[in-house]
Amino acid sequence: MRSLLGDHLLQRLQQQTEGALYQRVFRCLRDAMIEDVLPPKTRLPASRDLAHELHVSRNTILNAYEQLQAQGYVEAFTGSGTWVSEKLPETYLNVSSNESSIKAQNSYELKNLSKRGMNFFENAAASPNQWGAFVPGVPDVTEFPHAEFSKILLRLNRQPSVNNLIYTNEGGCLELKQALVEYLRVARSVKCDTDQILITEGIHQAVDFISRVLCDVGDHVWVEDPGYWGARNILTMNGLNIHPMAVDHEGIIPDPTAPVPKLIFVTPSHQYPLGSHLSLSRRRQLLDLARVHRSWIIEDDYDSEFRFEGQPFPSLQGLEENTPVIYMGTFSKTIYPALRVGYMVVPKSLVSGLKTISAELYRGGHMLTQQALAEFIQMGHYAAHIRRMRLLYTKRRAFLIELIERYLGSNFVHEYSHEAGLHLVLKLPDHADDVAIGQIALTRGVKVRPLSQYFIQNQNATRGLLLGFACVAEKEMLMAFSVLRQCLKEHAILPEN
Ligand SMILES: Cc1ncc(COP(=O)(O)O)c(C=O)c1O
Repeated sequence: MRSLLGDHLLQRLQQQTEGALYQRVFRCLRDAMIEDVLPPKTRLPASRDLAHELHVSRNTILNAYEQLQAQGYVEAFTGSGTWVSEKLPETYLNVSSNESSIKAQNSYELKNLSKRGMNFFENAAASPNQWGAFVPGVPDVTEFPHAEFSKILLRLNRQPSVNNLIYTNEGGCLELKQALVEYLRVARSVKCDTDQILITEGIHQAVDFISRVLCDVGDHVWVEDPGYWGARNILTMNGLNIHPMAVDHEGIIPDPTAPVPKLIFVTPSHQYPLGSHLSLSRRRQLLDLARVHRSWIIEDDYDSEFRFEGQPFPSLQGLEENTPVIYMGTFSKTIYPALRVGYMVVPKSLVSGLKTISAELYRGGHMLTQQALAEFIQMGHYAAHIRRMRLLYTKRRAFLIELIERYLGSNFVHEYSHEAGLHLVLKLPDHADDVAIGQIALTRGVKVRPLSQYFIQNQNATRGLLLGFACVAEKEMLMAFSVLRQCLKEHAILPEN
């Protein structure tokens, strides 16, 4: 027999028409919590039971539960299920002391979001867990020579030059741009002048900026599938039509029959998340297509500093003269994410327009940090830090691979995984429910991301788990891995001894 909650959700589901099924279920459950149908500290039904009541797959419910958990609406506890949080996220959005008026007010505030704001809110997928085994893509931030960097910052702060204290309309600190020209030329074969560099607050801001400034609502953009959901959410928020392109061992497979793109978003050095490297023939094909269509390629070069073996792959931007490429780099992976400093190398024809608009939009700041970074690079500390981290991550990656090969088998290492980056993909069989495994692992303190969630086209989704190894010391890795192995056993991916 159906429960009262089942009845309520079924009624609400009929009123929800937009978005994927799991998002509709997520919205219904979230509204039920906001409206107190599901009060704080209530246990949610088991995913299998609710799936049965709503006539949807268990995966749909697990995805909805995961989104609720990521946004703080519920908490999961090992062995005792998923519970409505004591305080809903809405509670933190305003300062009224009256609890019930807070709820009413906040549900009203959410409804006040624009359509695109609401859509962005509902697709928000950034995990609240950003540290520990096996958070993907996080460098070991404790290893950065903070003392060295703060010495430079302290000196600059003591007697700051006026130029570092006022708005900039030059796209960032000149000395940092000069240091980057040299660094990018040597390390990434990027061809550019100082003028072509714009300092950003990271790749996210750069993608937001470029998609707003170079595209109109309704323009088309090609993206990798699977691909980086963070960039995809920004492109969607800005009204672009996303066209997923499959990925193989040579990187993105462009589909020339897809609508003419204004932007093509790629990760050529280390495809995110699978790890392949864009082959030379695909690079040429992409550049030719972009030139024919008058499109811009966004090259997201987020972690190319970390290639541990074999020859380094140069950037797509520098492959030919005057490529239609907007190159994006970041200090998030080489220094630490909270620094929020990145850079764009833009084609000469865009320099003055983009600089003016960027100054108009953001004004530009953090000049002292930028100046300190410039000195840090010029004094050789940056290159030395990268060299040291390469050695550390090489060891950690080798340790993780050894654990996988010894305890699971070498077929569990994804075949596109090159010796590069800050994460690797643990490949699971097609029948594996990577979302459920990821969720169980999370309740036991092990943070992994399910590979299937990186896909736009569900029918192509392969199963696996992203394992970040860079911020995990070997001892911690060993413990986390044994927890993960137990989860795989419970899901019949491995035999129980
Ligand atoms: C593929 C990819 N690109 C870009 C970023 C974000 O870079 P930033 O911190 O510079 O915004 C990430 C963050 O994890 C990423 O995985």
